[in-house]
Amino acid sequence: MSEFQAFDIESVCAHVGADPSLRAIIGPGEITAKEIGDGNLNQAFVFLTDRSDRPALILKQALPYLRVAGEGWPLTRDRMRFETESLLFHNRIAPDSVPKVFAYDLDNSWVAMEFLADHEVLRGSLIRGTPLRDAAREIGEFSARLTYHSSEMSLSAPEKRAMVSNYTNPELCNLQEQFVFTNPFFRSEENKWNPAIDANVATVRSDAALKRAIAMAKADYMSNTQALLHGDLHTGSVMVTKAGTASEASMIDPEFAFYGPVAYDLGTLMANFAIGALAQTALDGDPQMRLLRQAELVRAIPQAWNGFTAEIERLWTLDASGDLAVRDYWGGDDAGFAAFRSDYLLSIAAACGPQGGCEILRRCMGIVSVGDLEAITDAERRGTVERQLIAVARSWLLDPIPDAAAPDRAVDHLSARIETAIASPGSN
Ligand SMILES: Nc1ncnc2c1ncn2[C@@H]1O[C@H](COP(=O)(O)OP(=O)(O)OP(=O)(O)O)[C@@H](O)[C@H]1O
Ligand SMILES: [Mg+2]
Repeated sequence: MSEFQAFDIESVCAHVGADPSLRAIIGPGEITAKEIGDGNLNQAFVFLTDRSDRPALILKQALPYLRVAGEGWPLTRDRMRFETESLLFHNRIAPDSVPKVFAYDLDNSWVAMEFLADHEVLRGSLIRGTPLRDAAREIGEFSARLTYHSSEMSLSAPEKRAMVSNYTNPELCNLQEQFVFTNPFFRSEENKWNPAIDANVATVRSDAALKRAIAMAKADYMSNTQALLHGDLHTGSVMVTKAGTASEASMIDPEFAFYGPVAYDLGTLMANFAIGALAQTALDGDPQMRLLRQAELVRAIPQAWNGFTAEIERLWTLDASGDLAVRDYWGGDDAGFAAFRSDYLLSIAAACGPQGGCEILRRCMGIVSVGDLEAITDAERRGTVERQLIAVARSWLLDPIPDAAAPDRAVDHLSARIETAIASPGSN
């Protein structure tokens, strides 16, 4: 490996100008770059030329330390290999749902990709009150393609195992294991929460049943190598069009990618819809508009799930050549294979509540909250929302999936629990 070079504005412009394929993307003219990394981990440069004011290229580079914490907090640049290889995989299996990769350098830990100039981050869009449109279904479909193409639904067992060992991502998984599943639930100095929920945080930390359920969700995250995950599939990792009727959801930032339980991605997404929904009416803006947005976000949970299940069904019935469900095994018993697919999907649905419950809780009492809650300026109002969320999370973690659930209704109990919280905000 050659010696690592961290780009600055000057060197990154020189590099892009000298690379014919990148130059072709940004066009002729003098190149300028802007560092837009609002992120905690990496630097990101966007390019313009003096002949174009529409950026077409973004270059993201990992630094050998956690950016927000500075050079004193080392973090290997390996994470950019996981992000780059994931993006390349996504480009192959879901090209309409991710930015196009143009170039990358694993030694220097950067990837250059399409700048989505008409898009914005979904979380910000929801906080401002923009309609969700079809984004939930689109993200669910993306997750289905990732699941199908990275698992033994489509791969041979040796192919799948080779993929598992390529995507171990120990450092970033360790961050999630600590910051999602562990540290928020005891006294750990990095935890932050709204003082208005002091008593609720203490109650969660001493809730034995809840902590057992969180530990089980953590065990699933740590040991279930079901499929390649995005790894951080919250509304801050999705971009949607700024306006218009088509949302064109595009997934970014897969640096936490690893082989884990599919319900971790779906549960994280559902949790962030739940947070977005409950935050809506505490945010500024026309109350009627906020109620509409809230209802959309509650519906987004079954929509994401149905996008996921419909696409899995489509892909798996079209081609079941992977080693999980070989044709000879079913011996022409189509109903048997269909029942197995249903059981398989129900097992994922059953795990979405626990995984999503952990995500909700850690956003209320762990190291990083989310913009939807931070945008609520009044601490008491934010506390009311957070108490509702903690009650929803507890129910998601502890209440089993209803026995009679059919695959297409298998997460209705999760959205129903949000509706209960909305209907009686004081009783949580
Ligand atoms: N392909 C893209 N097109 C347009 N904007 C993008 C693109 N990729 C990233 N961005 C913008 O850059 C920001 C930072 O990107 P990203 O989230 O990938 O970086 P990060 O350093 O990993 O951040 P975080 O700390 O949130 O994980 C995004 O929030 C988004 O606003
Ligand atoms: Mg990131």
